[in-house]
Amino acid sequence: MKITVIGGGNMGGALVKGWAKAGMASSLTVTAHTQQTLDRLVETCPGITAMLDNSRAVKDADIVVLAVKPWLVEQVIAEIKPELKGKLLVSVAAGVRHERIDVYVMPNIAAEFGESMTFIEEAAKAETAVELFGKVGQCKIVPQRLMNAGMMMAGCGIAYVMRFLRAMMEGGVEMGFYPDEAKTIAMQTMQGAVTMLRETGLHPEAAIDKVTTPGGITIKGLNELDHAAFNSAVIRCLKAGMK
Ligand SMILES: NC(=O)c1ccc[n+]([C@@H]2O[C@H](COP(=O)([O-])OP(=O)(O)OC[C@H]3O[C@@H](n4cnc5c(N)ncnc54)[C@H](OP(=O)(O)O)[C@@H]3O)[C@@H](O)[C@H]2O)c1
Repeated sequence: MKITVIGGGNMGGALVKGWAKAGMASSLTVTAHTQQTLDRLVETCPGITAMLDNSRAVKDADIVVLAVKPWLVEQVIAEIKPELKGKLLVSVAAGVRHERIDVYVMPNIAAEFGESMTFIEEAAKAETAVELFGKVGQCKIVPQRLMNAGMMMAGCGIAYVMRFLRAMMEGGVEMGFYPDEAKTIAMQTMQGAVTMLRETGLHPEAAIDKVTTPGGITIKGLNELDHAAFNSAVIRCLKAGMK
């Protein structure tokens, strides 16, 4: 199956790198606005095909993945339309709808490392998208009404998790660790927490009970988070993009 990614930027580039790592390099073609972006991708992913000409890139594809900025979607579809017949057109552009798009997909940039959380909108060809995006992480097919929520939790969610991690680092530095040490500690703690939930299936509050001694220090920290309205801040953060 030949895949063409139109727009090898942050998201398109992450998909290309993830698929290349999954052994698909020889089936991948990528385009961009500048040669510089293509050169960088070819250097990282030997074996892929890269070109500036969108129409030519689409010609032999079975699946075309649109990964340009939302405001360019209309223009790019008009440009490649003559070559699109019989091809599956998948778009990862946030919030843009177009009659020619077959499947709407919302991955995140952890696709580069095979760890995307990808939402795929219910559609006749959704399963084909699951097959493709399943190579770079977990996929979930959802109705259209949940696509934005998926984008906020997983697409944008990467940024929110980074903020939490940075906050932990800053606390660590204030208490005496060097930034690199604080980063390693915060990342390993986060990874440990995620692995614990994955392995045990516990609800986060049940996992919290395992760490929290009555009258101890963990509860003091948890209550400080509550006083600072941490839960509310996270919920408001996720809902901020749900207009
Ligand atoms: N970033 C994320 O985490 C994320 C997550 C989910 C969905 N998305 C969606 O992914 C899309 C791209 O976002 P992004 O963050 O990856 O943006 P980006 O980093 O700016 O990437 C856009 C890419 O499109 C290329 N491009 C511009 N005009 C083009 C054209 N006419 N033909 C072909 N390629 C063209 C650019 O080329 P040059 O590099 O040469 O300028 C660039 O590589 C957006 O619609 C966004 O909603 C992004």
